[in-house]
Amino acid sequence: MISLDYRNIDQSVIGCENGLNIKEEFLNYKDRITSIIANLNKRKDKPGQWLQWLNLGYSEETLWYVKEYASMVQGRFDNILVLGIGGSALGGLAVTEALLKPYWNLLSPEQRNGLPRIFFLDNIDPDTMTGLLDILDLSKTLVNVITKSGSTAETMSQFMIVKDRLEKELGDNYRYNVVATTDKKTGILRQIAEQEGYKTFVVPDDVGGRFSVFSSVGLLPFALVGIDIDEITNGIKDMDLALKNTDINENIAAQNALIHYLMDTQKGKNMSVMMPYSSRLKYVSDWFAQLWAESLGKNKDKEGNDVCVGPTPIKALGATDQHSQIQLYNEGPNNKVINFIRVKEFDNNLEIPPIFEYTGIGYLGGKTINQLLNAEADSTKVVLSDFQRPNVTITLEKVDGYNVAQLLYMLEVQTAIAGELYNIDAFNQPGVEQAKNYTYALMGRAGYEESAQTIKEKMALTQG
Ligand code: PA5
Repeated sequence: MISLDYRNIDQSVIGCENGLNIKEEFLNYKDRITSIIANLNKRKDKPGQWLQWLNLGYSEETLWYVKEYASMVQGRFDNILVLGIGGSALGGLAVTEALLKPYWNLLSPEQRNGLPRIFFLDNIDPDTMTGLLDILDLSKTLVNVITKSGSTAETMSQFMIVKDRLEKELGDNYRYNVVATTDKKTGILRQIAEQEGYKTFVVPDDVGGRFSVFSSVGLLPFALVGIDIDEITNGIKDMDLALKNTDINENIAAQNALIHYLMDTQKGKNMSVMMPYSSRLKYVSDWFAQLWAESLGKNKDKEGNDVCVGPTPIKALGATDQHSQIQLYNEGPNNKVINFIRVKEFDNNLEIPPIFEYTGIGYLGGKTINQLLNAEADSTKVVLSDFQRPNVTITLEKVDGYNVAQLLYMLEVQTAIAGELYNIDAFNQPGVEQAKNYTYALMGRAGYEESAQTIKEKMALTQG
């Protein structure tokens, strides 16, 4: 199981001004946390609560359909191209980056055991998109278009471009190169998929985009590139069992949620840095940034009062950011909680040869890169604590499906509990929807004429 070390949050380590009396706070919040966890579990099966993601580890049916399709198309495609944005892409990106061999797309087909390369187009930059489409042989590419709403302009515009090119190249048979993941009944993509006869997978009801990584949104691309989705499911199930424990002393998601909440509301530390010491976990920070920001950044509480709350997530990577952001974390405003992610056992033990002994770098020879990375993580942790900067460490045994699934699932539950502590709805995103609607209006979508007029007037005003 992954673990959480929160000693460097305590007053005894970082002083009274910046630290918490953590034992006392766990005691103060014991009943509240118990009722939050019990309540989340009680509500989870009720429609409209957006808590179905708590059940994703147990969806045998999805696992079966995903595996069946993946084995059916195995060997037919050289590339998987995922089209999606936000919650429809970030989980897939984070997990494939963590679990596939590094530089997967640069390996030969033999080195990949005949499995396809995988590309995520999660932005609509015309240059990168053109660049990618120029190098992909579309006839050998399976396009997985993912959008829960079925209408997100970024994803659907990408899909329109790709569909057009596919059809020009393959004629009617192009449809066998498309698999759509979307709502089971509603949305434009569902309508198109039915008309065109695409294979489809479902984004389950009451699972928001940022909580969808363990639905077919993530599981399908994982299975297509040979990631063991049973191992992932086992990780979720074991973590889910652990996090059902309503005792804060035993529940790491509740502990980290409470730590961040109290640090924000009592100590003015309203930024959360996610800093894995593993390049393979780099995109976990991107995924977490969306999860934390979109879930907790809200202007109303559950009673409709104006609150404008939410800790700001910051992405960092160890050791790289020791030479970039750490100066600010150590000496700048003391307004952050740093989350280190550590890995106990790397797949490789990389020795540094004992050369240049006659120079000042001779001490590195005979050690390993693993030792160096760990030493850097340890020293950063100690220095931050010396500067009275709160930090916690999440430790994974290794970077594998079991541990990575536990990590992501734990962070999802942590986010849900934090939402309850802030007394906000962690599962809506009105701020995102508003921007989406304005884009539809500006791009001339029918039904948005009034918004188009308003936004044009506002733009004219702001542009003087
Ligand atoms: O978490 C969310 O709900 C959002 O970030 C969505 O995932 C994102 O806006 C993409 O939406 P859709 O999957 O409907 O295309």
